[in-house]
Amino acid sequence: MSIVDLAALGESFTRDPYPVYARLRSQGPVHRIRMPEGGAEAWLVVGYEAGRATLADTRLSKDWSKASPSLPLGSVSAGPHMLRSDPPNHTRLRKLVAREFTARRVEALAPRIQKTTDALLDRMLTAPDGRADLVEALSFPLPISVICELLGVPDLDRESFRTWSNSALGATDPEDRSLAAASMARYLRELLEDKRRRPGEDLMSALIHGSDEDGDRLSHEELVGMAWLLLVAGHETTVNLISNGVLALLNHPEQLAALRADLSLIDDAVEEMLRYDGPVETPTFRFTTEPVTIGDTLIPGGGELVLVAMADAHRDSARFPSPDRFDIARGARGHVAFGHGIHYCLGAPLARLEARIAIRTLLERCTDLVLDVHPAAIAWRPGMMIRGPRSLPVRFTR
Ligand code: HEM
Repeated sequence: MSIVDLAALGESFTRDPYPVYARLRSQGPVHRIRMPEGGAEAWLVVGYEAGRATLADTRLSKDWSKASPSLPLGSVSAGPHMLRSDPPNHTRLRKLVAREFTARRVEALAPRIQKTTDALLDRMLTAPDGRADLVEALSFPLPISVICELLGVPDLDRESFRTWSNSALGATDPEDRSLAAASMARYLRELLEDKRRRPGEDLMSALIHGSDEDGDRLSHEELVGMAWLLLVAGHETTVNLISNGVLALLNHPEQLAALRADLSLIDDAVEEMLRYDGPVETPTFRFTTEPVTIGDTLIPGGGELVLVAMADAHRDSARFPSPDRFDIARGARGHVAFGHGIHYCLGAPLARLEARIAIRTLLERCTDLVLDVHPAAIAWRPGMMIRGPRSLPVRFTR
């Protein structure tokens, strides 16, 4: 099978990967690709049925020690965590956090999310020229503040926490990224020590002091890994759900008008935002542990990298009629924006809550919000995993 060099497509692929995936889908569900960042060769699965099945395929491992040593993969993580584990370890790690990360704990964050959104919009609306970058003003600071609340990061430390997190996850230079990740890991270790001595009402305190019915609990390194995972998984993604969602509305004035006319449609609108231009373009890496046939393609065992083009699953007309149309009333449930199978997103209820409150409040407070840039001029974040604009200039009347 010949290799599709996605790197050669340059910036146009980052800006609009959908037609590229659709072209591949018209040829079959599995393709050999070279990834734009790092140049690793991978097997890309496109289309809804094949993509969804691959997400739940237990023959594929999430454990990075299973990756073929010839793969040029660089990544940072502060400790072992469930999104890099297979059963039975995954089952154990997930169970220990799921019993604490409850619907009640998420619901209890709602007033805090509302208050933070209000404060951020108060600040944004004071801009003398009626202009702002929505990423900087709302999409970025809201989720990080919610994660800090969840993890119990004290107010005083939040600015440094935000700086590290921003460079650990966002810096383009790998060295800057790993330096920031190391600072972040050191900070998380100290935070955990502190919570061990002085527990609070937060999730991390509950994880340190709680244990399941068999007396099992997380080790120190697992706690650091868990805090890291919640930070990365819960922050990077939600930022881009808010940005991409608002961008889709601003690019589709009739959909924006329909939502403004009846804000109770916000729940359905957020589901359509997750489908139409969700924040996760291809989810985390999977590695073969044995030969696996998908469609007519035999993917060898031995740690081959398998990627699911989730963004393409959502544009497959076999599952979603007129998939390229943004339609908040379509009933987009069935999308796989939060994954599928045992690694289904643990934070989905929190992500939905944040996006609903943020976007609804933004529309209530800014009755004439418009884009302040030509859509084609928006700069997108590089890489195939996370999809979102680097900045989103908007205009409004004060
Ligand atoms: C719009 C926002 C979000 C999206 C689109 C999203 C998407 C995803 C996806 C696709 C996966 C599965 C990855 C895979 O199978 O490779 C996942 C897993 C996960 N997500 Fe989210 N996520 C979001 C927000 C959050 C939040 C707010 C949290 C927590 C604070 C969170 C915590 C997790 C965790 C812990 C996992 C790993 C679950 C496991 O391995 O069993 N996510 N997420």
